[in-house]
Amino acid sequence: MKICIALTKGRLEEQFLNYFRTLSYNIDPLVNKGRKLSVETENFQFIFAKGVDVATYVEHGIADIGIIGEDILLEYQPDVYNLLPLPFGKCRFSLAEQEKKGVKRKQKRTIATKYPNVTTDFFRKKGESVDIVKLEGSVELAPLLGLADAIVDIVETGTTLRENGLIVTEDIHWISARCIANRSSLKIKRELITPLIEAIVPKEEIR
Ligand code: PRP
Repeated sequence: MKICIALTKGRLEEQFLNYFRTLSYNIDPLVNKGRKLSVETENFQFIFAKGVDVATYVEHGIADIGIIGEDILLEYQPDVYNLLPLPFGKCRFSLAEQEKKGVKRKQKRTIATKYPNVTTDFFRKKGESVDIVKLEGSVELAPLLGLADAIVDIVETGTTLRENGLIVTEDIHWISARCIANRSSLKIKRELITPLIEAIVPKEEIR
């Protein structure tokens, strides 16, 4: 029996594999996987999916473990065991807009975002009523083209904001990559999963 690990494709996949390698796991079969979406190593089956789908595969028990951004957990609240933070994928949810000095703020702002639930919650707590426009990506375009007054998005290096003339006006909160698990896998495959979890716990966490 192998543990199935679902990885979020893209930046997190790369950061997880680099981290996994430092823990002395052999990831050679994953390095030149090309466009394959499922790869087996000696001990694991890895599947590669978009963040929200990683949550779905873990929720349904297809994957035992998932590596996912905390942004997805906050937005979609999947029914999974949220095991632990990982020492990569660190970024923040921020409110950003164009730097316009001396322009009077509109009474009711329009906010573009990939995260309507996080955004609704943030503005509810602030006591500000806003209109939310849901986009699937490249959210930074919305204020530039007049679709929205501001955006709520994740900021990692800040390059995308900077290169599109936007500035952070408020930080919402810091997030990182997380390790999640299927609730029954934790019971059924406990003997296999426990050593893996112990290995991937960031060392500063167990001091
Ligand atoms: C994310 C996020 C920002 C960007 C931030 O987008 O939505 O656009 O990364 O990173 P930075 O601060 O390092 O520039 P992603 O690359 O996932 O693509 P998307 O906009 O198409 O969702």
